[in-house]
Amino acid sequence: MTQYRHGFHAGNFADVHKHVTLTALLQALQRKEKGFLYLETHAARGAYDLETSSEGRASIAGIERVLAGAPSHEELAAYAQAIAGWRSRAGNPRAYPGSPLIALALLRPQDRAVLIELDRGEAAALEKALQARERASPRAPERASPRVPERARPGPRAQVVEGDGFERLRAYLPPPERRGLTLIDPPYEAQGELARVDAAVVEALRRFQTGVVAVWYPIKDARDTAAWHAALRASVAREMLAGELWLHPCDSRVALNGSGVVVVNPPYGIAERMRVWLPALHACLDTGGSGGTSVRLL
Ligand SMILES: C[S@@+](CC[C@H](N)C(=O)[O-])C[C@H]1O[C@@H](n2cnc3c(N)ncnc32)[C@H](O)[C@@H]1O
Repeated sequence: MTQYRHGFHAGNFADVHKHVTLTALLQALQRKEKGFLYLETHAARGAYDLETSSEGRASIAGIERVLAGAPSHEELAAYAQAIAGWRSRAGNPRAYPGSPLIALALLRPQDRAVLIELDRGEAAALEKALQARERASPRAPERASPRVPERARPGPRAQVVEGDGFERLRAYLPPPERRGLTLIDPPYEAQGELARVDAAVVEALRRFQTGVVAVWYPIKDARDTAAWHAALRASVAREMLAGELWLHPCDSRVALNGSGVVVVNPPYGIAERMRVWLPALHACLDTGGSGGTSVRLL
């Protein structure tokens, strides 16, 4: 059982960077009509209150700036709309949705989500959040398929799975749709977790080589990040890009300098768009002015 609780970190700058990147990836996949699978290996509880999230409280100003501004960037506008939609459903102006709820705000009827979470309490909270979402939704929930033996199917297109995401992802790849995005977003607190991430990326691509895989990672020391990128490059023979946003120089000794997402099999045009919206997002989040952004192929 993991002790990590994402609630303490919800809404921090790294969460916002990850969630806007997720929004951009989902939008890019939706340029085609055909539905796809959104698979999350580390979903957490799905719904937060920034008043009770210590890092979220610190980020409120940044998030509010994103929500208020930059409508010319479609990725930021769609992210802002997902946050505003959840706040209005939750009836709480400080509510903040996690990645599963942000994805569900964007998914179309032809898309579907499988959301894996190891911690029983977090998985149960996620089911509740999805049920609350369905109750507040104008659409009637679909009936759960009795053929799917997972513990709950809280609404249309979404299935919560309690279990180890590194292991369970195998069961869902390749998806019958032959299109998919897998998000791997572990806490990076357990020993050997990075090696499990690498193995999961390799396994996901072995099963489904054209699937998009996104991995969030913390930037604490740029040399460690470079070494990990090189190792991943050596074991993955697909196109890969890294989008990074940092608030502190990447070798400073604060706990978290920056946030990165590696995207394997990046959808067409995603890097070009990232070079437009990432600096705009950075401008909202970096009030100290000592950070930066980068988008590069690995
Ligand atoms: C960083 S949080 C995920 C946040 C979420 N993706 C979001 O952006 O809203 C990591 C989550 O992974 C869960 N976890 C840890 N180890 C896991 C594993 N092996 N499989 C699935 N979930 C795991 C933790 O309980 C925690 O809820």
